[in-house]
Amino acid sequence: MGTGLILGIESSCDETAASVVRGGHEVLSNIVASQMQMHALYGGVVPELASREHLRNIVPVVREALTQANIAAQDLEAIAVTAGPGLAGALLVGISFAKAYSFGLSKPLIAVNHLEGHIHAVLMQSPQQDEQQLALVVSGGHTHLYLAQQNQGAWSYRNVGRTVDDAAGEAYDKVAKLLGLGYPGGPWIDKLSTYGNPKAVPFRFVEINRGTTEAPTFDFSFSGIKTAVLRHVETHGLKPSIEARRTALAAIENPTLEDALAHTDQPTRDLIASFQHAVVGNLIRQTLAAAQHHNARSIVVSGGVAANRELRTRFTEAAEKNGLTVHFPTAALSTDNAAMIAAAAWPKFLQQDFATAALNATPQLRLG
Ligand code: KG4
Ligand code: ZN
Repeated sequence: MGTGLILGIESSCDETAASVVRGGHEVLSNIVASQMQMHALYGGVVPELASREHLRNIVPVVREALTQANIAAQDLEAIAVTAGPGLAGALLVGISFAKAYSFGLSKPLIAVNHLEGHIHAVLMQSPQQDEQQLALVVSGGHTHLYLAQQNQGAWSYRNVGRTVDDAAGEAYDKVAKLLGLGYPGGPWIDKLSTYGNPKAVPFRFVEINRGTTEAPTFDFSFSGIKTAVLRHVETHGLKPSIEARRTALAAIENPTLEDALAHTDQPTRDLIASFQHAVVGNLIRQTLAAAQHHNARSIVVSGGVAANRELRTRFTEAAEKNGLTVHFPTAALSTDNAAMIAAAAWPKFLQQDFATAALNATPQLRLG
């Protein structure tokens, strides 16, 4: 009997993460070194800086993951690493480390798709692994729908919808930036939206379908709402209050919700609440339509935007009404982490689906 211990490593974007997971579901440690504060200075992720920070963090983060799990490196059965999609330079730091580590320990190396990782962040805590799942991966880089199915231990995925332009998280980040709020924007908009009227600004979404009548796709588009928010700002004279807020918040080292509220007038609170209401509604409608068409009874939602409170509440209500179940990851497993990589690697470990020393970063890696 092996130990069942997998070390997961994740460095696709702006978090350097390492985690030890036993048997694909028992998280012994989950270490995330976030570069958020550094990138916040630039209002977004700067790839060159990200790689440099990953290099600085990878060794201490892995060491901490082993320490917190209270295990020795030799106890591991395999090393799993994100192979893509993501920033090339950032991915390479994790991959190079994982290759060297697995070679040094003579343990197999497992390549994991970051999106598959996000899906397993939920599946690892979900009891319904046997059913066909519809997975909505909704983050800063992705808004994708997949049908996920387990067949004799191996998972397979089929893409049945995706954004044709911006990802939902990207829209959150861009709108927050436009409104003079901090980076990343999702958590700010999430918190501030409870103070506004979600029906104040009637944003409208067009449901997109690039498929055919027989084989529809359930797609998303989030660039339109970003432009609509900008237009609203211009026609309602919100620019001066935005600039005042930007300046005021920039002067505070770690602005709190109270700080943001103190500098956010009611029309802007209403705009924020309306934006979120529209985005959440669109995500839910398209996902439920896809579930109905593909006869999926179980939905999993993951990725950074899955942390959103309105999305969680409304999705749970809507799913219940439709006789479906919906599962979300815990907050710690919603945003980028390495536990999800180690969890996704477990079925591959059992199948001996190992990577070779030739493993390279694939920035545009697709799933399904
Ligand atoms: O999965 P993730 O950590 O990284 C990517 O793979 O992109 O997702 C980060 C994204 C950011 O766009 C961030 O604004 C968004 O997730 N996000 C949220 C919330 N927390 C993070 N969006 C809405 N509500 C939240 N509470
Ligand atoms: Zn992610």
